[in-house]
Amino acid sequence: MERTVYLDGQFIKESEAKVSIFDRGFLFGDAVYEVTAVLNGLLVENEGHMLRLQRSCDELQIALPVTIEQIIAIQRELIKVNQLDEGGIYLQVSRGNAGDRDFAYPSADVKPTLVLFTQARSLLNTPKATKGMKVITTEDIRWKRRDIKTVGLLAPCMAKQGALDKQVDDAWLIEDGYITEGSSNNAYIVTQEGVLITRALSNDILHGITRKALLELAEKENMKIEERSFTVEEAYQASEAFVSSATTFVWPVIEIDGKTIADGKPGSVATKLRNIYIELALQTAE
Ligand code: PDD
Repeated sequence: MERTVYLDGQFIKESEAKVSIFDRGFLFGDAVYEVTAVLNGLLVENEGHMLRLQRSCDELQIALPVTIEQIIAIQRELIKVNQLDEGGIYLQVSRGNAGDRDFAYPSADVKPTLVLFTQARSLLNTPKATKGMKVITTEDIRWKRRDIKTVGLLAPCMAKQGALDKQVDDAWLIEDGYITEGSSNNAYIVTQEGVLITRALSNDILHGITRKALLELAEKENMKIEERSFTVEEAYQASEAFVSSATTFVWPVIEIDGKTIADGKPGSVATKLRNIYIELALQTAE
């Protein structure tokens, strides 16, 4: 069935949604995006995603063409018309169509292009959550502003495809011997002593909305947490590894570079965090 999508003020059929070849999102990857999970037809942690959207836009001097309140109304309308129960809503705002190709930002009268669409998918019952996933490590060749959620995603696409070509599920990215994050998720390990470790926030990684909530939940559970960089070797020796994002919540990692993590089964910390995160998400979705 054709989805109804949103493009610049209009709710239209996906086959009718057209963006100019001069759109800077198309020509330069000059656009930012957000993905908000949907459970039971409600938005999960959308406030965090909207705050990050505003920040990404501010960092790049892209003026949102509508207010955050209007975006939320658009998200709700898309959920309704597409009868979305479980999945996500993708939002992208580009610097717009400047009528030609020029590196300089266009004048302020060029209106940013706003696109939103729904994606139906199972978030709660997925084999990756129960069986865990396998990853390889690969060099992090991305740019230096990974805190901005831009659509310039060729490096993570290459990393992900490289992983699939090797018959594993995803890639963890390495810089100077340390893991930064996954191709499209934040990365965590649990040491043999039970300490939960994930890289500290900086421009090196995306400031995950799910990461923030998980660390708060872990603290409430009195888990020992260290926000610091960890090496690939530490990851191989960990008692658990996992990833987080809006579309996975928490997925255990059971193998890294062909090396089995602990007994090769999803660990208790990842399983517990996934369960309490989902509980919170279901309670707070709106
Ligand atoms: N990816 N790190 C990277 C590089 C990401 O692309 C993402 C999200 C995350 C997790 O952030 P959050 O918890 O806010 O989803 C971390 C989204 C889901 C995507 O690109 O589809």
